[in-house]
Amino acid sequence: MSSPVTIPGPPGLPLLGNILDVDPSNTWWSLRTLAEKYGEIFKIRVLGHEIVFVASAALAEEICDETRFRKFVGGPVVEIRYAVHDSLFTAYDHEESWGIHHRIIAPHLSPDSVAAHFDELLLCTDELIAKWTKKLEPGVKFQPLKDLNNLNLEATALTLFGKKLGAIDMKEGEEHPMIQAMEDATSEAMRRPNRPKLLNWLLYNGKWKKATKTMRTFAAEIVQYRTEHSTGRKDLLWALMNATDPQTGNKLTESQVIDEVVTMPIGSSTAPCSITATILFLLQNPEVVVKAREELDRIVGKDGALKQEHVSQLEYIQGIVRETLRLSCAAPGFNIEPIPAKNGDKSPILLQGGKYHIAHNQPMIIVLAGVNRDPAVFEEPHKFKPERMVGDNFTKLPAGVKKWFGNGKRACIGKHWAWEFLVVVTAKLIKEVDFQAVDEQYVLKQDGWFNIRPIDFYFIVAMTAIFTAVSAVTISLPSGVTIPSGVTLPSGVTVVSAAASATATAAAGSDSNAKAKVKRQVNIPGLQTSSTAAAAGTAKAKLRA
Ligand code: HEM
Repeated sequence: MSSPVTIPGPPGLPLLGNILDVDPSNTWWSLRTLAEKYGEIFKIRVLGHEIVFVASAALAEEICDETRFRKFVGGPVVEIRYAVHDSLFTAYDHEESWGIHHRIIAPHLSPDSVAAHFDELLLCTDELIAKWTKKLEPGVKFQPLKDLNNLNLEATALTLFGKKLGAIDMKEGEEHPMIQAMEDATSEAMRRPNRPKLLNWLLYNGKWKKATKTMRTFAAEIVQYRTEHSTGRKDLLWALMNATDPQTGNKLTESQVIDEVVTMPIGSSTAPCSITATILFLLQNPEVVVKAREELDRIVGKDGALKQEHVSQLEYIQGIVRETLRLSCAAPGFNIEPIPAKNGDKSPILLQGGKYHIAHNQPMIIVLAGVNRDPAVFEEPHKFKPERMVGDNFTKLPAGVKKWFGNGKRACIGKHWAWEFLVVVTAKLIKEVDFQAVDEQYVLKQDGWFNIRPIDFYFIVAMTAIFTAVSAVTISLPSGVTIPSGVTLPSGVTVVSAAASATATAAAGSDSNAKAKVKRQVNIPGLQTSSTAAAAGTAKAKLRA
């Protein structure tokens, strides 16, 4: 047998190892860069520990074989146990608690359970769209991630715990305190393993403890609210507080309930990172929006309302969601280790039939930024092409490039919830909002901790939103301006002369709704503020394609 190939990696410094090759404030971006340089497998050494990274579809598929490998609970995952103990995400393979929690929680995150919360999810999404389309003054900049984080927390709390938080109403650019606490906790969990313990204790324990306290207080208040407002609702929170594990007969302790009420929003917070990336990809690929709107018109109807049964029918929208998961890598990777041999054998583990050898207990991290862009699988891997994620094209893809929800028994327990959220929010946004880039030249740059998100990315809401934000709109044209023939106006839009509009304004009288509609008219850029035919032409271009 030929000798194994040495696993490559950056040379590093004596004693310090590769500490300078990984930016502690943007670890996943550094790993993506290293994956682009070294290819399918590479290694680094930090504080005396060697970590192997896997960045190809074939190798990812191999180490997802659960007969040989399992989840590695180490580094940041162990650190976050300070906040959530032996919860689903953080439990070691040998801990009995994982099975107990899993059997209690899984039935309440099944496709049917998730579908039963469709109306609540819709309600939250409508609130966000109303927020975005309310501010129709030209040029109001939105930071999608913050608003989507609020939407996600609101939807998680409402659907799984039956509590409305009011997070979507936060002022523009502000987030619910739980979101900041989750970010502080996960960022600290990522950094702690790479700092000397004494430094963590001396300088960073304050932030660490404060974030933990905020998250656990948030959860305790949710539990208390349910105790005080028992409604007979049998949702996930009910199961956490009351259900019995069918196998052991165990129930969760009060502390374990809090652990899981904190864990769910942390897991769920990956979804808004993905939707933020979707908005960016849609702005960069307007032809995808046109195709998606054709599908929405066909299945939901031009004036129709999205219903639960549409979720499984919107195949192209599903393709957009999968292609975003592939390219955005919202959950950037996960950890794997060899299953220890029962006989204590410490021989090296062979990968790719012996091409690479790793130690019997070698921790590995799957870097999805490499795996999901593997040129051996994807033509033009950096391009956003939802078509490759639809029907047979998707089915034929190798399993290694479909790991955005993790693997096997430790795969994402929230994947059906996440799927519903991603398809519903994506469909509603494409149907009801026209996005415009603030910076047309923006190139995707991400940072993050347990999840990654586009940074410094803003958008403004364009005109179509106006037409969907109100049931009917009357556009008054300044004298001399006409809508060119061939322009299709969305339903509910009426065009009148300036004189007729003045009459309508007067007729609005004290009716505040009517007044609001009239106010909206004033904010339509181009059509009313300019008196040139060219302005009407610009408006036409922005009318629904
Ligand atoms: C786009 C959305 C999401 C993505 C991409 C995602 C991705 C992942 C991945 C890759 C894992 C495996 C982690 C590992 O092996 O260490 C995971 C686990 C997990 N996720 Fe998600 N997730 C998403 C949404 C959610 C949601 C909505 C929830 C909760 C409602 C959730 C809760 C969890 C939990 C509790 C685990 C640990 C499961 C276990 O080990 O048994 N995730 N997720």
